[in-house]
Amino acid sequence: MEQKLGFDTLLLHAGYKSEERTKSRAVPLYMTTAYSFDSVEHARSLFALEQGGNIYTRLQNPTSDVLEQRISALEGGIGALATSSGHAAELMTILCLASSGDEIVSSSSIYGGTINLFGKTLKKMGITTKFVNSDDPDEYDRATNEKTKAYFVEVVGNPNANVSDIAAISKIAKKHGIPLIVDNTMTTPFLIKPIEYGADIVIHSTTKYLSGNGTVMGGVAVDSGKFQWRGNPRFPEFNEPDPSYHGIVYADIPEAAFITKLRTHILRDVGACQSPFNSWVTLLGMETLSLRMERHCENADKVASFLEKNPRIKKVNYPRLPSSPYYELTSRQLKRGAGSTFTFEIDGTRENGAKFIDSLKLVSHVANLGDSRTLVSNPAATTHSQLSDDQLKAAGISPTTIRLSVGLETAEDIISDIEQALKAAF
Ligand SMILES: Cc1ncc(COP(=O)(O)O)c(C=O)c1O
Repeated sequence: MEQKLGFDTLLLHAGYKSEERTKSRAVPLYMTTAYSFDSVEHARSLFALEQGGNIYTRLQNPTSDVLEQRISALEGGIGALATSSGHAAELMTILCLASSGDEIVSSSSIYGGTINLFGKTLKKMGITTKFVNSDDPDEYDRATNEKTKAYFVEVVGNPNANVSDIAAISKIAKKHGIPLIVDNTMTTPFLIKPIEYGADIVIHSTTKYLSGNGTVMGGVAVDSGKFQWRGNPRFPEFNEPDPSYHGIVYADIPEAAFITKLRTHILRDVGACQSPFNSWVTLLGMETLSLRMERHCENADKVASFLEKNPRIKKVNYPRLPSSPYYELTSRQLKRGAGSTFTFEIDGTRENGAKFIDSLKLVSHVANLGDSRTLVSNPAATTHSQLSDDQLKAAGISPTTIRLSVGLETAEDIISDIEQALKAAF
């Protein structure tokens, strides 16, 4: 029923109708931990998954449940899990799919924190990540072996706004029976629904454009419900009884095998649930997602065009510029826009770059993106500072790369602040 409603209607209504008891029209904030059982038998049946219901907020919460249903409806999934941050969504998703001795294949042009999580922290847990150039989907194919448990890619990469061909990578994933995890943080379902292009699991840092106001951390993992777990030799844990949860066989749960295991096994044990307050604030922010994304994209177009014409700028990595190598793919895959986060290279030294950032007055220098305010950062010194020189090169980042997350201010004001800071920098 909800699937048939338009995107903007889902943003306001999916997952919630006025409550029977309070008649509250807006989604109420349930700042609660535990929920009364009617009887011992009721408690037993909830724990045995014989019926749905709230037990304990680490596992499920009524406010977070609305957020999960809403994002799932927007992405065209069958269920979702809200997590304490985007990183928590990534980590728990990988832990749900891979164990020590396994491998994953990931794009190398992604958020620096994720490169660190995959390349260092997962490595310590015995999970190896092979980083590939997602511009060439065949690199996923070549990096695959019998131990591979997942492919990972960002639709639009942070920070350089490199666009990946989700349908092409999905084709290779399907050939091998490997789930494709797509991080849709930079684009949101307003610009693309990766499941329509073959993604099996969609990840978000809801900290960014989804909440949209730079106030709350959060993440989400959405299950497409389409992946074939049953009988897949790569996933014995989905096909054999789980001794840690009443001997459940996840592949026996029609469509919802992944999201059920993610919640009942991984979230239960890792515990990185989303605070109900953060879910509530994110729901408020999401009500205006369509309006905001339209303006973000419109402002980004204007700022990128201004930068491309400025003699102090060597290169602008914005996929909607006809000069971008991603222009054709973007026109095909991201018809409404490519988000508002991208990078540019100053035609000068590292000192000119630093002077530029320090001279900005309206634009804020912070380690975040997707805020309603325009933000700037120097990835090599901040979000990607843990990367080795080789990793920085693979991600296309130099010391003078500057990242902008274009906000919702009057475009001319953003441009004039950048203009005065560029003058001051030289
Ligand atoms: C594309 C992308 N994915 C995931 C994350 C991690 O999200 P969080 O900071 O909410 O843990 C970030 C953070 O910047 C990001 O940019």
